[in-house]
Amino acid sequence: MSLRDAAFKLDPVLWAKAALAYHPDEWAVKVMMSPARYVIENVSRQAGKSTCAAAMAVHEAVFFPGSLVLVVSPTLRQSGELQRKCLRFYDLVDPQHKGLAEDTKLSIQLANGSRIIALPGQEDNLRGYSAPSLIIEDEASRVSDDLYTAIRPMLATNQGRLILLSTPNGKTGHFYKIWTEGGPEWLKIKVTADEIPRITKEFLANERLNMTEGQYRQEYFGEFMEAEGAVFSSDLFRSLANSSISPLKLRGDESW
Ligand SMILES: Nc1ncnc2c1ncn2[C@@H]1O[C@H](COP(=O)(O)OP(=O)(O)OP(=O)(O)O)[C@@H](O)[C@H]1O
Ligand SMILES: [Mg+2]
Repeated sequence: MSLRDAAFKLDPVLWAKAALAYHPDEWAVKVMMSPARYVIENVSRQAGKSTCAAAMAVHEAVFFPGSLVLVVSPTLRQSGELQRKCLRFYDLVDPQHKGLAEDTKLSIQLANGSRIIALPGQEDNLRGYSAPSLIIEDEASRVSDDLYTAIRPMLATNQGRLILLSTPNGKTGHFYKIWTEGGPEWLKIKVTADEIPRITKEFLANERLNMTEGQYRQEYFGEFMEAEGAVFSSDLFRSLANSSISPLKLRGDESW
């Protein structure tokens, strides 16, 4: 391996700038350079979550022969979308596809034995992959908890990384739970739309006029909102579940 490639292997940001002409924003640099095994990104719409993840996937596949990268999202169509972003980046490093063994809509296989595989949104279809070095869960707040529970054990036997990227979608599900309760093993990254130079104030003002306040705050400002129309807040439900208050007994009713 040349000195240059050795530097690129160690520094995915240096590589992404030189090979992909992708200049990650500060938050994305943090994600790409972090040694954290578990990363959760609560990042605004259109901030560049999928782009950053695709660059990381291709870096892993190119510089770590034999690696398995899994791309999970709520639907096969969305997983395939991220897969195509990966292929567009791969095209830049290997325009003639000399190192490409196979490319289907849902998988990229390199001659060095690495694979990037897009998975469907149903958990029964994704068992059987072992020891992925990187799992990317795109639109994670909309991925089912069953699917999330099915992918975690795949990381049991190696030092593979798991990256969840999303905007919030209510105060439920694994994305919300990890964001609020995830321990120190999680690198938590929050980026709001006003921090992204490519998103203008005018665009945001117009968006605000065209969606509910709750949607706007979730999509662009990383706030976990109650489902619209919910009569009781989920915080109230949680406090009830944790409380030591015993259930109310009605006079004459001993069955409680
Ligand atoms: N660092 C960057 N520099 C320039 N353009 C960028 C950068 N990151 C992302 N983009 C561009 O911004 C747009 C949105 O990127 P991307 O689809 O990755 O965002 P996202 O956060 O996944 O969006 P969504 O929430 O809609 O899925 C794309 O056109 C992408 O090429
Ligand atoms: Mg995206």
